[in-house]
Formats: sequence, C-alpha cells, structure tokens
Amino acid sequence: MEIGFGIIGCGAIAPVHAQSITEIPGARLVAVSDVVERNARMLTERYPAEVYTDYRRLLERDDIHAVSLCVPSGMRAEIAEVCAAAGKHILAEKPLEVSSERIDRILKAVEKAGTTLGCIFQYRFSEGAQQVRKAIDNGRFGRLVLGDAYIKWYRSQEYYQSGAWRGTRKLDGGGALMNQGVHQVDQLIWFMGKVRTVQARTALIGHEGIEVEDLACALLAFENGAMGVIEASTAIWPGHPGHIEIHGTDGSAVIEDGALRFWKFQHELSEDEQIRASFDKPSEFGTGAGDPLSNLRHEGHRRQIEDFALAIRDNRPPMIDGEEGRHAVELIEAIYRAARTGGTVVL
Ligand SMILES: NC(=O)c1ccc[n+]([C@@H]2O[C@H](COP(=O)([O-])OP(=O)(O)OC[C@H]3O[C@@H](n4cnc5c(N)ncnc54)[C@H](O)[C@@H]3O)[C@@H](O)[C@H]2O)c1
Repeated sequence: MEIGFGIIGCGAIAPVHAQSITEIPGARLVAVSDVVERNARMLTERYPAEVYTDYRRLLERDDIHAVSLCVPSGMRAEIAEVCAAAGKHILAEKPLEVSSERIDRILKAVEKAGTTLGCIFQYRFSEGAQQVRKAIDNGRFGRLVLGDAYIKWYRSQEYYQSGAWRGTRKLDGGGALMNQGVHQVDQLIWFMGKVRTVQARTALIGHEGIEVEDLACALLAFENGAMGVIEASTAIWPGHPGHIEIHGTDGSAVIEDGALRFWKFQHELSEDEQIRASFDKPSEFGTGAGDPLSNLRHEGHRRQIEDFALAIRDNRPPMIDGEEGRHAVELIEAIYRAARTGGTVVL
C-alpha cells in the first residue's frame, strides 16, 4: 500500500520532510498546505504537489493517509485534533507541542481516532545514538553513573525576529531547551531512563525582546540512581555540536550530533575498534549548532519518516510515538518550574 503524505506548514523544515518522503519507497507527497500561499508554492516548485491554503481541504482527500505537521510548535494541538478526526496518521515535528497538557489533547484525539502518532526526533536514528542504546540494553556500561547533555548553540537576534512565533512562550513554548535542546533532552532520557528530581536556573542574556530563555542549566537525579546535567544555550558563538555523555561503572560513550566521539568499555568487543575508527567522520546528520538549517541534512528525517510509513503499513507503533514524544517536554517543563521556584521539582 502506498502511503500518501500531506505537509501542513511549508516553512523552513518542510523541504526536509518533502525530500525525505520523495526518497522513501511506498511513500508519495500528495499535497501541501500553508496559510501563506507563497510558502506552499515555493515548496511545490521543487517538490510537485497540490497546494491548499486551508489544511481542512487537504484532509478531505482520500489519497492522503498521513500528514507531516510542520507548523509552529504551539499550533499543533488544534490542527492535530482535526487531522485525527479526519482519520489521518500524524507525524509531528519536535517538540510534539509546547506543554504536556497540549500534548495530552493530541494523544486523546489519536486514541479516539485509532490513528498513528509519531514525533520527530531524528537524532535517535543516528548510528551513534543507536549504538549507545544497544550498549545500554546489553548492560555494557555497567551501572549508569552520569548522563549529561550539552547544547551550546548560537541563534542570532535576526533568527528570533524571522518569525513572529519564535521566542514566544505561547508558540515556541520555551527557548534554548524547548526549541533547540529538546533533541538532546529526548536522547538523554532515552538512554538514561526517567528523571526523579530536577534543580535548575534559566536566564536570558544574549538576546533582546524574546520571552524565553537563551541559557539554562539543570541538575538531574535519574530514577536509576544516576545523576546528570543539562546545559543549553542559544547565546554562545559560534555554537558547538550537540554533545551527550553517558558514563557507567564499566564504560563511557560520547556522541556529538549523532556521531560517536568516545567509546570505551572494560569488556571490549571485537567491533569496538572499528567503531572508534569512525570518530573522525563528520556527523551524517549535520548540526544545528550555529544555524537552524543550513548545516542540517535530511538523512535523519528520511530514516524516521520511513519508520513511520512502515509503522502505518504494518499496523505497529512507530519507533517514536506520542508517549515517547511527551517525555522530553515533560522534563523541560519540570526544569522551567524548578528555575521559577528555585526549588527541587519531583517528577
Ligand atoms: N527536527 C528538526 O531538526 C527541526 C528543525 C527546524 C524546525 N523544526 C520544527 O518545525 C516546526 C516549524 O519550524 P520552522 O522553522 O519550519 O517554522 P517556520 O516559521 O519557518 O514555518 C512554519 C510554517 O507554518 C505555516 N503555518 C502557520 N499556521 C498554519 C496553518 N494553520 N496551516 C498551515 N500552515 C501554517 C507558516 O505560514 C509557516 O510557513 C517547529 O515546531 C520547529 O520546532 C524542527
């Protein structure tokens, strides 16, 4: 069965979805929608598809089975409810929505409709992230001790001015953590498991006129007894790769933008030397460190959208479903709460 895709929201990330869909066997881009018709037309110049300015019209088509939701983050709940009621499968960009309350609206809508929900976190599909997850599953780290995520990125003042929704609480939901760092926060929880308590500080020090943080530091205690930190910023020039460290009693690994940069275990396997030989290779997914998209490659999206299409075909959950997409937002909300109150937040 061919999965017909629609894209709702034809801004910066939409071509990454369109390019991915066109490369996936058994998937086809059927139509796109944007309230700004010019944005939709620009997308279809390169990726031919029908254009709608009202996404409801796009949903009327029987040859559309799934939609990529690429509208601003805090606009997804209402649109997803309509998409689910129309019987469409939904692949939402990250973060799934800007609060767990709004995410729950989406979860409820897809549950009622019986459709599939996925949340884009493309870095989970990287070789590095997959290797780390496998090593954790196989107990190679021993007892997990520390899990850290560092997102020391740069976004210019012009970036925040490039869209009315950027840097707003209502539609961006947050700053360096909720928009940019959410990728690494997601991977950290995927590796380390649930967080029990959070202490944090946030600040706005490198930009003007935005409602969200461009600097955040959090101290985490995981349920498994391990600890960790998250440091996120969009005020650091020139921006450094998204960096995650996983340390255990029997081994340590470091990944940057999905590529392994350190890999050592007390009990080595024959494949480990070969893995270390790949350290010099650049990230296959690119990086959003200094600029949102100019260095981002579509390979991560291609892998994730392919998994999503196969999940629909095989009637199974996608690798990152709605519940999985919720975890990172829930933790970021807890970090914001801890920063506001100055206390310890228990999840
Ligand atoms: N996975 C990644 O690495 C990645 C990278 C960039 C952006 N994103 C996410 O993608 C989403 C969009 O970001 P962007 O940078 O493309 O934003 P953008 O502002 O460039 O594009 C958003 C588009 O949505 C359109 N839109 C708004 N309301 C609409 C509606 N009701 N119907 C149809 N279209 C509507 C706007 O006109 C605009 O063209 C955000 O949630 C962001 O977090 C993810």
